[in-house]
Amino acid sequence: MNYRSTLVTLLAASAVMMASSAAIAKDKMTLYCSPQIEWCQLVIKEFQKATGIEVAMTRKSSGETFAQIKAERKNPKGDVWWGGTGDPHLQAAEEGLTVAYKSKLWNDLRPWSTKQAEQANMKTVGIYMGALGYGYNTELLAKKGLPEPKCWKDLLKPAYKGEVQIANPNSSGTAYTTLATIVQLFGEDGGFDFMKGLHKNINQYTKSGSAPIKAAARGETTIGIVFLHDVVTQVIKGFPIKAVAPCEGTGYEIGSMSIIKGARNMESAKKWVDWALSPAAQKLMPQAKAYQVPSNAGVQPPPEAPKVDQIKLIDYNFGLYGSSAERKRLLSKWDNEVKSLPR
Ligand code: F6P
Repeated sequence: MNYRSTLVTLLAASAVMMASSAAIAKDKMTLYCSPQIEWCQLVIKEFQKATGIEVAMTRKSSGETFAQIKAERKNPKGDVWWGGTGDPHLQAAEEGLTVAYKSKLWNDLRPWSTKQAEQANMKTVGIYMGALGYGYNTELLAKKGLPEPKCWKDLLKPAYKGEVQIANPNSSGTAYTTLATIVQLFGEDGGFDFMKGLHKNINQYTKSGSAPIKAAARGETTIGIVFLHDVVTQVIKGFPIKAVAPCEGTGYEIGSMSIIKGARNMESAKKWVDWALSPAAQKLMPQAKAYQVPSNAGVQPPPEAPKVDQIKLIDYNFGLYGSSAERKRLLSKWDNEVKSLPR
């Protein structure tokens, strides 16, 4: 090897070393994401573009993510838990699994978002809001000659045997919100009687909350109990699906975001929280076919989104149903008294 080619080789080697040390030095973080995967992927792509921080992501439903963070509490692997229903975020705050952080965007947030944060001593914050309900496949309903459901109690009719799908409330925040909503609407005994009656008509308990309306869109179930914004997603995709805001009134979620205690990338985690509350981040929602109400007051939901101010919403008691003792109690009662029954 002559002098010239040795020099070229050395220069090339040092360029490779410089490039790889730059890669090592790059800021990074791990996100636990609970909404639909398309939205998780879009926000990550845009956050990376805006900040240069590399994001590794795991998507799991709300109850599953809570369980994972709890299992990892001695050796936390995630930095931020973004999205998913607020109840398990409140439970995580109460159990000391997340840390307080007041974003500099605090004054731009809608009142339900800051209320959620204050309720958890700033260990979580609301990022979106959405009402619960159900959707049905209009073609299947007509083909099977089934009546049009309008209320929660309609779903108990024997005609709907095997026609209704909902997620399991242990894994899914949507299904836990349903359980807590039904108990708030009909009382403890009336609520559990309702859940037992509904159980007879359920064809499958899914892991993810939005799966039942995707199944309805594919014609695999007639009715799916989900958040109404997830019904809109299927309507926008062109499926013959109709949304129902139940006549008795309904519950809602404050989709939340929390920084995990012991986060290895705390600075990146705080940057994520500030960015995720910004108009730039929240304006992305329709692009991911996400139709919740954004928590930044400067961002309006698109016209296709459910009109939550026209829906009869209950005064959902987040303090109680997001508490560790009540969530555990309701879930184990549902396991023992509902899930175990024959169908
Ligand atoms: O699909 C979006 C969404 O409905 C969110 O609004 C909600 O926070 C989340 O999914 C709940 O998902 P799961 O029921 O699977 O926990």
